[in-house]
Amino acid sequence: MTYIAQPNATTIAEAVQRLRNGRPVAFPTETVYGLGADARRVEAVEAVYRMKGRPADHPLIVHVADPDDVRAWALKVPRSAERLIETFWPGPLTLVLARAAGVPDAVTAGQATVAVRMPEHPVAHALIRAFGGGLVAPSANRYGCTSPSRAEHVHDEFKDSDLLILDGGACQVGIESTIVDLSGAEPAVLRPGRVTVEALQEALGADVAAGPVAFERPRVSGDRARHYAPSTATVLKSADAIESADLRRADVFVVARTLKPGEIKPERWAQLPVDPEGYARGLYAALRQADRAGCSKIWVEQPPSGPAWRAINDRLKRATTPSDADEGPRAGRLR
Ligand code: TXA
Ligand code: MG
Repeated sequence: MTYIAQPNATTIAEAVQRLRNGRPVAFPTETVYGLGADARRVEAVEAVYRMKGRPADHPLIVHVADPDDVRAWALKVPRSAERLIETFWPGPLTLVLARAAGVPDAVTAGQATVAVRMPEHPVAHALIRAFGGGLVAPSANRYGCTSPSRAEHVHDEFKDSDLLILDGGACQVGIESTIVDLSGAEPAVLRPGRVTVEALQEALGADVAAGPVAFERPRVSGDRARHYAPSTATVLKSADAIESADLRRADVFVVARTLKPGEIKPERWAQLPVDPEGYARGLYAALRQADRAGCSKIWVEQPPSGPAWRAINDRLKRATTPSDADEGPRAGRLR
C-alpha cells in the first residue's frame, strides 16, 4: 500500500528501514519530490528504474547530506566544484563530476561521470543523515510525466505500489535542480534551474556554457524534446490570443499568469503568480490540475523571456506541443 506519512522520528526510522531493505522511499526536496533508494545497492537502484518506467541509459543523481560526502562519489573535486559547493549547497544545484571507482553502473548508466547534489530541505537532510549514505533520487513521477511538487502528486503517480511518502509540504523551488557539468574542459549547464547560468558565472568568475558544449555529452533525461508532459495536449499561447478566444465555448483549461478569469468557469482556470519564483513553485501543481480537469486542451499563457524565466521556459517547451498546428490529440502518454 502507498501512503503519505508526516515526517517524525518514527516515520524517518521506518523510511530508513525500508531503504536498508532495498525498497524505494519518496521524500521532499526543495526542488521536487524524489524517489529515493540506496545508491550503493544495485537492486535498490534497479527498483527505482522499474518503478518509474525509466530507460536504463538515463543516469540518476546521488543525494548527500554533507558537502564532504561528494568525495565518496567523485574521483576528484576540482576547484570549480568546491567554489560552487561553497556558494550553492545545500541547494538546487547538481554537479556532474568524474566518478569515483566503485560507483555502481546502475547509478551512472555506465558513464564516466556521476551527478551529485546536496538538497536543502530539512526532511531530505534528516533522511539522508539517518540512512547514513547517498541516496539516488529521480523525481518521483513516472517517466516523461510532470514532476511532483507535493506529496499528493507522488501518491497520484504511485497509488498502486507499496511506497512510503514522507510529506514535506509544497516544494519551495518547484522545478528540478540546475545541472552543471564540470567534467569537461568548460563548465556547461545541462539542465537550467533556479540557479542561473549568470549566477554560476559570477560564482566561478569564468564562462559557463548555457548548454552541452561537446559534440557528444552525457544524456540528460530532460533533454528529450517532450518531457514533464501532461497527457492532455498543452499549448503555449500569448495573453492576447487567449483573451481574444471565446473561452466560454472552447473546451480548454487555462494556466494564466497576468490574465484574469473573467467569464470562464473557475474549474477551468489556474492562476500562477507573476514573479518567476512563485510561478515555478506553482507550475507543476497547475499542470496536474489542468490535466485532471478533463478538457481537450490546456492553454498556458506564455511567460516572459530572460534569465530568471529560462528554466521555466525550458520546462514549458518540453511540456507543450510547439503550436496550434500540431495541437491534435496526443498519440498517447509519453513514457
Ligand atoms: O531537483 C532534482 O534534481 C530532483 C530532486 C529529486 O533532487 N531530481 C531529479 O532527478 O530531477 P531526475 O532523475 O528526474 O533527473 C536527473 C537528471 C536526468 O536528466 C539525468 O539524465 C541527469 O540528471 N544526470 C544524472 N547523472 C548524470 C550524469 N552523470 N551526466 C549527465 N546527466 C546526468
Ligand atoms: Mg525527472
